Amino acid sequence: MSTAFDHPEYNYKVVRQFAIMTVVWGIVGMAAGVLIAAQLAWPALNFDTPWLSFGRLRPLHTNAVIFAFGGCALFATSYYIVQRTCRTRLFSDTLASFTFWGWQLVILSAAITLPLGITSAKEYAELEWPIDILVTLVWVAYVVNFLGTVAIRKESHIYVANWFFAAFMIMIAILYIGNNLVIPVSLTKAYSIWPGTIDAMIQWWWGHNAVGFFLTAGFLGIMYYFVPKQAGRPVYSYRLSIVHFWALISIYVWAGGHHLHYSALPDWAQTAGMVMSLILLAPSWGGMINGMMTLSGAWHKLRNDPILRFLVVSLSFYGMS
Ligand code: HEM
Repeated sequence: MSTAFDHPEYNYKVVRQFAIMTVVWGIVGMAAGVLIAAQLAWPALNFDTPWLSFGRLRPLHTNAVIFAFGGCALFATSYYIVQRTCRTRLFSDTLASFTFWGWQLVILSAAITLPLGITSAKEYAELEWPIDILVTLVWVAYVVNFLGTVAIRKESHIYVANWFFAAFMIMIAILYIGNNLVIPVSLTKAYSIWPGTIDAMIQWWWGHNAVGFFLTAGFLGIMYYFVPKQAGRPVYSYRLSIVHFWALISIYVWAGGHHLHYSALPDWAQTAGMVMSLILLAPSWGGMINGMMTLSGAWHKLRNDPILRFLVVSLSFYGMS
């Protein structure tokens, strides 16, 4: 049987590998979520065992759903989309395979160290420095492979989904490295180079942009390819996609301060964080509206297309949240 995955020119192996692991880590990560949710109601479910306690499994849950489940989904879709929209095979199959196995190793290391209580104690940046180095190597390989593919494209235009993926990759690289600059004191412990309040500010500069770039810009890349594809219509407004792209990426990086309201962070930085978060409503809705309106003239397809229904529900929840 021939499927959409049969295309000798493209590297679909790495897409398939990441897609399968998205499902696997989704199940593992959400199972951890169910366990810690149950512990909130029935604390005895930690069985008086340190590595089963809420404090250790909560970061396991967040890391698993965001970076393992969400991350594998982003790798799979970006590798798929960049090849199809650039009409060329990935820049390097070796780098692709390195990113797959490297990322799985990162996830396994997290799944072992976090329950053992080995943590930097910074939210969404809990992994200790040796794992951070591995993350950095994998991420740089990913960026090189993705941008390398864009560079060798056979299509003159760079499709909008790829702008979002590129912004997501570059910002995550900068923020992850910036927030994880540490001085190691042992294999499992290191101290941040940033002092006190500055450390908190850098931490939430990263933490909020894990949401803004990992979970938003990257997923908008997915949206910009699959919504038009599934609806069988072009993106509603090309102009809106340009405006909301630049607005989103230039405003999101300022919003982290809203995690530190009423803290020692200077008032002006708290206010900037709050104001930028309010302004962010506009580009966020720009993306949601562009996705929704892509369906104009194709609403009837919702009646019998479950994939399109999922996409529309995702867009509405994005708009509402
Ligand atoms: C079966 C599904 C899920 C369950 C039962 C679940 C459960 C939980 C629980 C109990 C917490 C801790 C709440 C607390 O500390 O008071 C939590 C936190 C969190 N979960 Fe989930 N979760 C699920 C799916 C997901 C998914 C799919 C994602 C993202 C892709 C996610 C992202 C997060 C994040 C970011 C937090 C931290 C929130 C915060 O600190 O405000 N969860 N989850």
